[in-house]
Amino acid sequence: MDKILIEGGRTLNGEVKISGAKNAALPILVSALLSDEVNTFTNVPDLKDIESTKILLKHLGARIDSDKDVVQIDAAGLNNHEAPYDLVRKMRASVLVLGPLLGRLKKARVSLPGGCAIGERPINLHLKGLAQLGADIKLKHGYVEATTKGLKGADIYLDIATVTGTENLMMGAVLADGVTIIRNAAKEPEVVALADVLNQMGAKIKDAGTSVITINGVESLHGTSFSIIPDRIEAGTFMVASALTKGDITLTDCAPMHLGACINKLKLTGARVTVGEKKIRVVGKDEIESVDVKTQPYPGFPTDMQAQFMVLMSIATGLSLISETIFENRFIHVSELKRMGADIKISGNAALIKGVPKLLGAPVMASDLRASASLILAGLVAHGQTEVNRVYHLDRGYQSIEAKFSRLGAAIKRIKA
Ligand code: EPZ
Repeated sequence: MDKILIEGGRTLNGEVKISGAKNAALPILVSALLSDEVNTFTNVPDLKDIESTKILLKHLGARIDSDKDVVQIDAAGLNNHEAPYDLVRKMRASVLVLGPLLGRLKKARVSLPGGCAIGERPINLHLKGLAQLGADIKLKHGYVEATTKGLKGADIYLDIATVTGTENLMMGAVLADGVTIIRNAAKEPEVVALADVLNQMGAKIKDAGTSVITINGVESLHGTSFSIIPDRIEAGTFMVASALTKGDITLTDCAPMHLGACINKLKLTGARVTVGEKKIRVVGKDEIESVDVKTQPYPGFPTDMQAQFMVLMSIATGLSLISETIFENRFIHVSELKRMGADIKISGNAALIKGVPKLLGAPVMASDLRASASLILAGLVAHGQTEVNRVYHLDRGYQSIEAKFSRLGAAIKRIKA
């Protein structure tokens, strides 16, 4: 397994281009299953999860041509309704094929994704919504077995504003007969991007980005082309890196309007943040103010930025309280940060961080995607060498992260296994 070595203490300066958003690209690539024409997507990030998605779509019968950030998908030959365990276990977002398979083939057999490091992550709300759309759902031998005579529009209320749940139901509803309403829908930019692609394909989706989405079913969807929106979590990660190392980093090709909560919180720590149309510049400050954070569904502070922000708070001047309200076990990075000298106490879903003058480099273990990013950030600012193990977690969601940090002045390198 690869590891990443970092000599901490460098100030990071320069420009970094933000890649396409993993969490937009995954549902958007899957949405191509809904059409029997060719769909072309650009600005697709080069990530392990994207490769897994391509493998799955090919397994279902789609033809895929890729060239750098361009992915062309032709799902005319869609002929397999099964997403097997060995594919789904590698990437839980594979459950997003349920909606399209039911829409196109009227059947689906998809392995239950199982839990992951950050929580149980059930998909009960996906299944309840699909059942309301007229799918007959059975759980057998670790698989979801779904069939339908034809999906019909329904009025669906989501107990939790689930992101991929909203996306799955949206994709099931676009070819359903009649009108579907999704209430308490997720408002994330990635949900809006998916709705934009589907509408370009001929769907009739209204008010994506609000809590109540209305979808008028249509007969079929044609092909289109679409550029994947920038990754707001990658952007937030580099913003924190600048504040952490008292650097001066300008992010390009990013979407500032998706980062309101992160920008707000970063300013409160004392960092200077200036925003352009597709740029964000963050200039770090010698003294980092302690700031409380509570993760919330969009447009609240994103749970995917919680671990990264905690690193910044670990060397701030006072006490900060970070509450994680989305996932039940998303503090795995805390024990690793404490091995680097952080002073953090956990009580339930809250972590109390007492800023310390410095972190010390150490060998640490990555556990999930965003925790891995936080360990990289900690290594950048720690005194001495940090060795981050199991970086395959990182490769799932960050495109060539060490190259990007190295170009900003970090002493960072990957040691191939
Ligand atoms: C999406 O996951 C993202 N992944 C996650 O990013 C992100 O952390 C999460 O949304 C929250 O913003 C993708 O978009 C591929 P949820 P998702 O369904 O959709 C509970 C990353 O690092 N829930 O919004 O799986 C669930 O357990 C990843 O890029 C149910 O109880 O998250 C959680 O507590 C990590 N039943 C809460 O809702 C359901 O049927 C929010 O989960 C569905 C969800």
